Amino acid sequence: MTIIVTCIAPVNIAVIKYWGKRDEDLILPLNSSISTTLSTKQMRTTTSIMKSPDFKSDRLWLNGKEEPLNHPRIQRCLKAIRERAREQGKFEDKCKLHICSENNFPTAAGLASSAAGYACLVYTLAKLYGVEGDVSDIARQGSGSACRSLLGGFVQWSRGSNSNGSDSVASQLYQADHWPSLKVIILVVSDHKKKVSSTGGMQRSVETSELLKYRVKHCVPANIEAISLALKVRDFDKFAEITMRDSNQFHAVAMDTYPPAVYMSDVSHAIVNFVHEYNAACGTTKVAYTFDAGPNAVLYVQEDDVPLVAAMIQHVFPPLPTTKQQFISIPMKPAVLPEDLKTSFPPHEPGMLKYCMYTEIGSGPSQLTDPDCHLLLPDGNPKKIAS
Ligand code: DP6
Repeated sequence: MTIIVTCIAPVNIAVIKYWGKRDEDLILPLNSSISTTLSTKQMRTTTSIMKSPDFKSDRLWLNGKEEPLNHPRIQRCLKAIRERAREQGKFEDKCKLHICSENNFPTAAGLASSAAGYACLVYTLAKLYGVEGDVSDIARQGSGSACRSLLGGFVQWSRGSNSNGSDSVASQLYQADHWPSLKVIILVVSDHKKKVSSTGGMQRSVETSELLKYRVKHCVPANIEAISLALKVRDFDKFAEITMRDSNQFHAVAMDTYPPAVYMSDVSHAIVNFVHEYNAACGTTKVAYTFDAGPNAVLYVQEDDVPLVAAMIQHVFPPLPTTKQQFISIPMKPAVLPEDLKTSFPPHEPGMLKYCMYTEIGSGPSQLTDPDCHLLLPDGNPKKIAS
């Protein structure tokens, strides 16, 4: 019988970064990590999977382009979910699959696209085969950070200690509505593909960075505990400091890697300076930044402070005269910048930011029931093909 299932999955942004594996095949991390799941209203992966006795082979389309399905990580996820289906006594026929997936945000630009992508693949496969229970150990085998995108709100991926990875799973610390005033602004510096992948960079760090060993042993365990407490009591000051320090340390590890893995750009550093100077001018912490393996910044800001911070960003990082800087946004009150702030923060040269996105913490993946949402036509071909 032909069946089609379509699901969406969110992006997640780590505030305590995962960097370094102790097992490359099973994707077992050196340290635990903590992330926030972002709302799927602004950023999401959508995946449709159809199984049919008429299909001759498994096929995959990513963002409208057909890609080979023999990638070892995709194969590992497929094998693991079919095994789980069998263990749970779910019927499994030998039908081939057509998989079609698209992101509504730049792929591989340090915006956690592989996390949302693998989370969506595994979640949709689980729905297709009727697999029940936690599948974060399977998503982890696609891309480590993907296991955290299977849950909403504030999520911890525990390092685990079993050699088969059975306890290296994601769990929810707090639901999406735990801290409703905590908002997120993403500053997209570049939407080009990054030069060193996370996978390659972290492998090189494990081989060559002494600082990574120190971070894993002495810094991460204490920071996991401290940030969990800050989240529990919604202490923005503490949350912000730990988040920024962890991001800085992760990039220091990348620099300590030999040869170094450079992910932040001059624009990223200008954003870091702006945040510290703005916090100092306000006399209290208003903004926190974190950077993944790319130049784009993710800022955490409390809701009441968002209008002024957004206006400041547009003032300090103005668009090119020919383009209107896009601020893709959930509803936001307008703000008028006080003159003294304007004069103490002179604008940078125009065009350093491509666009900004204002979003919030959201829930985990979900299945879409409206047949219009399917990315595949009834004959199993994609609705959209990239030109
Ligand atoms: C900097 O999960 O992309 O975003 O497991 O090799 O696929 P692989 O790596 P990936 O690494 C993410 C690294 C990070 C930090 C984080 O998300 O925790």
